[in-house]
Amino acid sequence: MDWHRIRSDFPVLDQQVNGHPLVYLDNAASSQKPRAVINTISHYYERDNANVHRALHELSNRATEAFEQARKKVGQFIGAKTEDEIIFTRGTTEGINLVANTWGAANLRPEDVILYTGMEHHSNLVPWQLLAQRTGATLRHIPVLDDGTLDLTNIDTLLNEQVKIFTFVHISNSLGTINPAKELIAKAKAVGAVTFLDGAQSVGHLPVNVQDLGCDFLAFSSHKMCGPTGIGALYGRMELLEKMPPWHGGGEMIFKVSLEASTYKDPPHRFEAGTPDISGVIGLGAAIDYLQAIGMENIHRHDANLSNHAVQQMRGIPGIRILGPDGHRGSLVAFHLDFAHPHDVVEFANSHGVAMRGGHHCTQPLMKRFQMPGTTRASFYFYNTLEEINRLVEVLHAARKFFT
Ligand code: ALA
Repeated sequence: MDWHRIRSDFPVLDQQVNGHPLVYLDNAASSQKPRAVINTISHYYERDNANVHRALHELSNRATEAFEQARKKVGQFIGAKTEDEIIFTRGTTEGINLVANTWGAANLRPEDVILYTGMEHHSNLVPWQLLAQRTGATLRHIPVLDDGTLDLTNIDTLLNEQVKIFTFVHISNSLGTINPAKELIAKAKAVGAVTFLDGAQSVGHLPVNVQDLGCDFLAFSSHKMCGPTGIGALYGRMELLEKMPPWHGGGEMIFKVSLEASTYKDPPHRFEAGTPDISGVIGLGAAIDYLQAIGMENIHRHDANLSNHAVQQMRGIPGIRILGPDGHRGSLVAFHLDFAHPHDVVEFANSHGVAMRGGHHCTQPLMKRFQMPGTTRASFYFYNTLEEINRLVEVLHAARKFFT
């Protein structure tokens, strides 16, 4: 793979920040966009812009065609049986809230258990906590070991017949842990639990196939996988979607409306009220084309090289504590330096052109578990280079000199 040529597809990367070449290592928060995606969105607004599913004029037909084509692309990308299992959302957070408020509200009883893990993002905790308050269901979690993997010692007690839904993150945004999704889903199925996989950090980084994994739901965000912000997708197995009540009411999700009551369309349209983010959906489709041309296996392999190299180089920095597993991990490294607060490290790095995120990364329970107020996180994508990681390590050594 010619990764340097691929990198040149991303115009934003070619700039100086604070007098230094930009080293963008905040990809777990949001990835950059290739020209192909930017051009597709511009082309849509310059040539095809109109509302979808509503009119029979040429522009509306073109917009509708491109919109529904993107749904097909998303369905194929994650191995759904049919594109009707793909609901467009604003992102992972909205996908989780949709399921909690529809499937959850209709199915959870006080005697049921919602199981999640100690490494969830707030977006995979709060919606279920709200649901537990509404339904009287109990919350339970799988603890996290010191090495950043799940403690599965008591899995058969935690994941028992009381569990109605087991929801967990595929790749942790704070640890880089890649959870054994297929095995966990199989265990959940064996006790009759519904499964929800948070794919925010995985779908753009490794091959994800919902039929192979066997999950009931999967949510992910476009902006972390080269697509635009404000759009994402929720996969739901059709047998479940068909039985789910709508969440948002409004135009386009109805079959018939009277002044007294309404009937609703089949999935996925039942869950897509109002004018959708049309350019976002089309942009996401272009991002998927782009990623598939590179190949998800290639992206995963390159990501792994970057994070292995980073961990090896960073271990040599005195006073560093690296979170997460020693072996195979997602393309991010979160760490704590004993000589400076994460926000100071991030500011220092920024003054040298290196972009990272510092803080609790929306995983406060995990920070409490590791007794840290927060961490600094360097997160990579396929357009990053080993030279950029070397630059990061150089800057961290300089930070040590600066702060001590
Ligand atoms: N969830 C995103 C992150 O980890 C925003 O940065």
